[in-house]
Amino acid sequence: MDISSYRQLIPSPVALVTGANKGIGFEISRILAEAGIFVWMAGRDSGRIAAAAASLKKAGLSVDSVPLDVTDPQSVEAAALHVENVSGALDILVNNAGIVNERRLNKAGEPEVIPPSQIELVMLRQTYETNVFGVFTVTKAFLPLLCKSQAGRIVNMSSGLGSLTQRSDPTWGYSAINALAYCSSKTAVNGVTVAFAKELKDTPIKVNAADPGYCATDLNGHSGPRTPTQGAEIAIRLATLPADGPTCGYFDENGTVPW
Ligand SMILES: NC(=O)c1ccc[n+]([C@@H]2O[C@H](COP(=O)([O-])OP(=O)(O)OC[C@H]3O[C@@H](n4cnc5c(N)ncnc54)[C@H](OP(=O)(O)O)[C@@H]3O)[C@@H](O)[C@H]2O)c1
Repeated sequence: MDISSYRQLIPSPVALVTGANKGIGFEISRILAEAGIFVWMAGRDSGRIAAAAASLKKAGLSVDSVPLDVTDPQSVEAAALHVENVSGALDILVNNAGIVNERRLNKAGEPEVIPPSQIELVMLRQTYETNVFGVFTVTKAFLPLLCKSQAGRIVNMSSGLGSLTQRSDPTWGYSAINALAYCSSKTAVNGVTVAFAKELKDTPIKVNAADPGYCATDLNGHSGPRTPTQGAEIAIRLATLPADGPTCGYFDENGTVPW
């Protein structure tokens, strides 16, 4: 991917990716670092995130790890302070961390999504704590640092399942997936994206939502047909948009996704 126009805006960019120890977040970190961007790999388990960063450092990439649990405001504040102390600023924030917790095994022992009427309120709350309130908490904490950048970029990892237009269309390929907590949390992520983009519209900061497509990761028991590397691509593109790139949008690798 050609990010030369972004590098013209910021010669030595600094990025932070949440949920970077595995899956799509790890790949986003690796690809950004391979493009010469310093990457803070953030993860909720200090050992796992340090090990993930060590594997990329071993390959000669400029990354470091920082403990950050998106559901714990104190850990988010501590991470923001650490990044400020070490890097002084932040150019790219990828809100990638996310969970799905409304699955169970059916009578045949196969995983299935729990129907909306049967999920527990606590599942909905846990999902929103990570997928929605986590995005808000992290964005708010790092915004002062992003405001110091000449070309701040915020990428919120949404999903095609966050699109109300697609989900309400019975002919859409994934319309059978009716995971109330996960899908509605991603719709809320889209709402958070639009709200921050509107507030920041007169600044250099661009805020967009990314749909990585259905990728094989721990999130879905590795059932997706795409690779995490393919899933990372749209996040990389939005993280390194040129000055005339879009803000307040929702994109997958093919272009705009309908809200
Ligand atoms: N895979 C897909 O098909 C797909 C499709 C559409 C959207 N997405 C979105 O893409 C993003 C990445 O998903 P993935 O497929 O790569 O899943 P994954 O392999 O399960 O990775 C999820 C990452 O989020 C982290 N995380 C979870 N809760 C966290 C918390 N409270 N604080 C910090 N980090 C936390 C996980 O850390 P631990 O290792 O500590 O659990 C892990 O690093 C998610 O937002 C997901 O909703 C994925």
